[in-house]
Amino acid sequence: MPALLVMDELVAGALPMKLYAASGEWSMRLMTLALLPGPLAEFFGRTPLLRLWLKIRRNLGVTAFLYAALHLLIYVLDMGQLHAIFDELTLPAIWTGWLALFALLIPAAISFDAAMRALQWRWQLLQYLVYPACLLALIHCLLLGWNAASTLVYIIPISAAWALRALARSGIHLRRVRS
Ligand code: HEM
Repeated sequence: MPALLVMDELVAGALPMKLYAASGEWSMRLMTLALLPGPLAEFFGRTPLLRLWLKIRRNLGVTAFLYAALHLLIYVLDMGQLHAIFDELTLPAIWTGWLALFALLIPAAISFDAAMRALQWRWQLLQYLVYPACLLALIHCLLLGWNAASTLVYIIPISAAWALRALARSGIHLRRVRS
């Protein structure tokens, strides 16, 4: 379990840089994985793999949030003092991280069935907050020194899935049509 390894390193006093990267990147990966099955299912139809993937989509989003929360915990421990955290709030590289975390918090907080029933159509709309969360997290990483090429691992699959969704919505798809 990657989260347990991060916690283990944290307890063992590993360098914060390594822990930031591990927790932050797992959050990014899981966010991306949560964003893919919806558009892909529109193009390919609900194949057995995509049905399974759609089933665990909410868990992927919630786990992405938990990794982001772990990332924040590392930051709080690294900073040590509350005033140091407040001092950094104005830095674009930091407030983009905060915004990404809050954007992810909302879909994670309403990810259970009762919230889905209560919010009805608004539930789906709020789930779309994962997109700005992902975008803000990428900007956060770029501002922290990532080169643009490193963001492509996330941008390419999401853009490809959206391109397929656009094709599906314009009538071109690989869904099996019932006769
Ligand atoms: C969804 C939310 C977030 C994601 C996905 C995320 C992602 C990442 C990633 C992938 C890195 C590693 C960058 C590298 O490899 O150099 C990173 C670094 C970092 N993040 Fe975040 N982050 C998020 C939120 C936050 C928040 C809320 C804070 C603090 C308030 C924060 C503070 C930092 C810091 C201080 C670093 C290390 C910077 C350095 O010393 O180079 N992040 N983040």
